[in-house]
Amino acid sequence: MLSGDRVMPLLRGRFGGPYLWSEECRSTQDVLLYNEWAEGAVSVSEHQTGGRGREGRPWEDTTAQSLLLSVLLRPAPESPVEQLSLVVGLATAEAIDAVAGTSGELKWPNDVLLDGRKVAGILLESSRGAVVCGIGINVNQAEAEVPDRTRVPAGSLRMSTGWEHDRAELLAELLLTLEQRYDEWCKGGLEPLLPQLERRDSLRGFAVTVGDVSGMAAGIAPDGRLRIVHMDGTESFVASGEVQEQVSD
Ligand code: BTN
Repeated sequence: MLSGDRVMPLLRGRFGGPYLWSEECRSTQDVLLYNEWAEGAVSVSEHQTGGRGREGRPWEDTTAQSLLLSVLLRPAPESPVEQLSLVVGLATAEAIDAVAGTSGELKWPNDVLLDGRKVAGILLESSRGAVVCGIGINVNQAEAEVPDRTRVPAGSLRMSTGWEHDRAELLAELLLTLEQRYDEWCKGGLEPLLPQLERRDSLRGFAVTVGDVSGMAAGIAPDGRLRIVHMDGTESFVASGEVQEQVSD
């Protein structure tokens, strides 16, 4: 269980104050979206009855096997909040690696992959100047417990490493890493994080389609957009959307 008495002694930064935990809720996003919490408020649940993903998709979990959390951020007005997708994705991959000894990759903008399988997804929602960052991580699910009809094949930390992981330890690591990466972004924008994002980029060099744009993924631009190079050498920059990888025969 990720109740306060287990998790709060592990917290090392300002994220997690207040720490709001429930055995079940509709969505951890809703706990933060409709209240005036301070930056760093965190909502965690063992199970969501209406967990939501990007593009209106549902986010399914297995009770007490996932990490389901939302963190409230209050970035400066006018800041490019769409870049937070990348900041949160990077922090999530780094925290997973630190706890599980893995080598997580990022599929732009923010899916975290282990061994080509999606183990974490991120959803950003805004309300009155606040951004609620929802993070779902498949931690201890066995293969039969992860959803099987997903766009990107789903995995879990356990499926990649072969053993179960301490969710409280992962949560504490994630909140600290997220706080550090967020502070860096607030101070210096995306630029200082670009080398780490590049290093984890799972799409670079692959043929992709995003909406009506097709070509070869060629990295992340300094403003966070996905760079796509076309056959004729011209390039496009994509600000949002779902990336489809083209499968060659
Ligand atoms: C995606 O990849 O589509 C994003 C998934 C985000 C899921 C998390 S789980 C915690 C938080 N609460 C929700 O309802 N969604 C996010």
